[in-house]
Amino acid sequence: MSLERTFSIIKPDAVAGGKAGAILALLEERGFRIVTMRKMLLSQAQAEGFYAVHRERPFFQSLVKFMTEGPVIVLALERADAVKMLRETMGATNPANAAEGTIRKRFAESIERNCIHGSDAPETAAVELAYFFSTLDLAI
Ligand code: CMP
Repeated sequence: MSLERTFSIIKPDAVAGGKAGAILALLEERGFRIVTMRKMLLSQAQAEGFYAVHRERPFFQSLVKFMTEGPVIVLALERADAVKMLRETMGATNPANAAEGTIRKRFAESIERNCIHGSDAPETAAVELAYFFSTLDLAI
């Protein structure tokens, strides 16, 4: 399969907990190239916009509060079959159900504070990459 790009966020729990370096190292070990990345503090509007698809869910306000509590690292990642392989590398949304060796199994606390986000489909990845990065950011 040809190279594909996906979008990821190392979430506030992992950044504050000093796990960002270990997560980035694991992603590189699994064959992901870091195309570009940025550490940033999400505003409430930015977090609400990013997670707009979840706005009717009961956990939406709590999720936005969590995602704005401290800095995140937003990432563009590249490898063959990147979307699917990142989902596998992250593990299940709920760390209690995540397989051994996955990022969430190793580093996540709970279904909400689950240390990493990854796009769920190539179409979503394109939208999420464009939400955070410019064409010039991605031309690396
Ligand atoms: P993510 O993959 O970023 O997509 C949506 C996020 O919502 C998810 O990771 C979790 O952080 C959070 N989430 C999903 N389901 C729940 C839930 N049942 N309760 C609380 N938070 C959730």
